[in-house]
Amino acid sequence: MDIIQVEDIAKSYGKHRVHEELSLSIQQGECFTLLGPSGCGKTVLLRLIAGFEIPDAGKISIGGTVVSDPSAGVNISPDSRGLGVVFQDYAVWPHMTVFDNVAYPLKLIKMPRKDLTERVMETVSMVGMGGLEKRLPSELSGGQQQRVALARALVAKPSLMLLDEPLTNLDANLREEMRFEIKELQRKLNITVFYVTHDQEIALAISDRLAIMDETGHIRQTGNPWEIFEQPADPFVFNFMGIANFISVRRVGEDYLVGNGAQPMPWEKPEGDASEWAAGFRPSDVRIAPAGGAGLRGVVKRASFLGAMMDYLIDVDGASLRTSIETHEALTERLMFKEGEACVVNFRNLLWFDARSLAEVLKR
Ligand SMILES: Nc1ncnc2c1ncn2[C@@H]1O[C@H](COP(=O)(O)OP(=O)(O)OP(=O)(O)O)[C@@H](O)[C@H]1O
Ligand SMILES: [Mg+2]
Repeated sequence: MDIIQVEDIAKSYGKHRVHEELSLSIQQGECFTLLGPSGCGKTVLLRLIAGFEIPDAGKISIGGTVVSDPSAGVNISPDSRGLGVVFQDYAVWPHMTVFDNVAYPLKLIKMPRKDLTERVMETVSMVGMGGLEKRLPSELSGGQQQRVALARALVAKPSLMLLDEPLTNLDANLREEMRFEIKELQRKLNITVFYVTHDQEIALAISDRLAIMDETGHIRQTGNPWEIFEQPADPFVFNFMGIANFISVRRVGEDYLVGNGAQPMPWEKPEGDASEWAAGFRPSDVRIAPAGGAGLRGVVKRASFLGAMMDYLIDVDGASLRTSIETHEALTERLMFKEGEACVVNFRNLLWFDARSLAEVLKR
């Protein structure tokens, strides 16, 4: 069942159109991530769903109830939407203790003191902050403050949580730990999570499904993490989802020639009749092998030893491509190459893009 339904939403600020005809649905119980570059309109969408912004047009429903529909004059207040929200700046109130911060939403609904205390203590310990109830935010680390914001969003037991970049201010280790914890909480409490971020790694790690938004606020693809990573719908998604390499390929008659040379791509051909193509791949999908074997002939331009990995930059008829290989494997499989040495390359996974649409994406 869809718990959130966004239908044909439009939202502008003055002349600046952030969203138009935006539709999205989120199913009960899933962790759904909206992933997109900075400024694309993620926070605006989250605020529209939460009810802090009113759409210019379109309709938003939560749990089957229409909560925003300007054409019918419907606009349910944020408090009545039954959501837990953690904002991008996670603002906890500086003058209130951890206990009071977390208790705040329960005070608003006038929960009796005894129940309130019990619920707050339970929630504080759930986010790993037991024993710190009397502290002020100034006596907590950034990560602990973020947990307080999370506890405050969870305390009223919402069935739906909206989280806006809740981990940005944490260091890498804590961020990794917290993302597992959020996922764990979501499973344990069986809640639906709408998570907004520009961090690909987090999105891949925690999502059941994710949507990729481009800088103009349009959703390019929705799917589960494997679909998005392995079957990107277009060059924008492919490029946004990790280090992508592209090499240019020209169609000459029946052949597809790499770079400015005469070596045909020996693999599956693209569909479509463009004459200029780009073959996209990730460094981990390129296999380097000694010269003389099957594959595209190239020359190692740069060989960098990065500890656990060897990183090679290879020239194939003027087209540069990067590959990385585990140092241990390079040593044991005789795949240590020197700069200037000839080699051949093969691709495990190659995606074809029309060079023109690729150029559009890359120039942005
Ligand atoms: N209240 C507002 N008034 C005018 N413009 C706004 C307002 N809120 C957002 N915008 C504009 O809308 C666009 C989208 O903003 P939004 O905050 O949704 O981006 P975002 O995707 O959340 O970015 P980030 O990843 O940096 O948080 C931006 O160009 C922003 O300047
Ligand atoms: Mg934002």
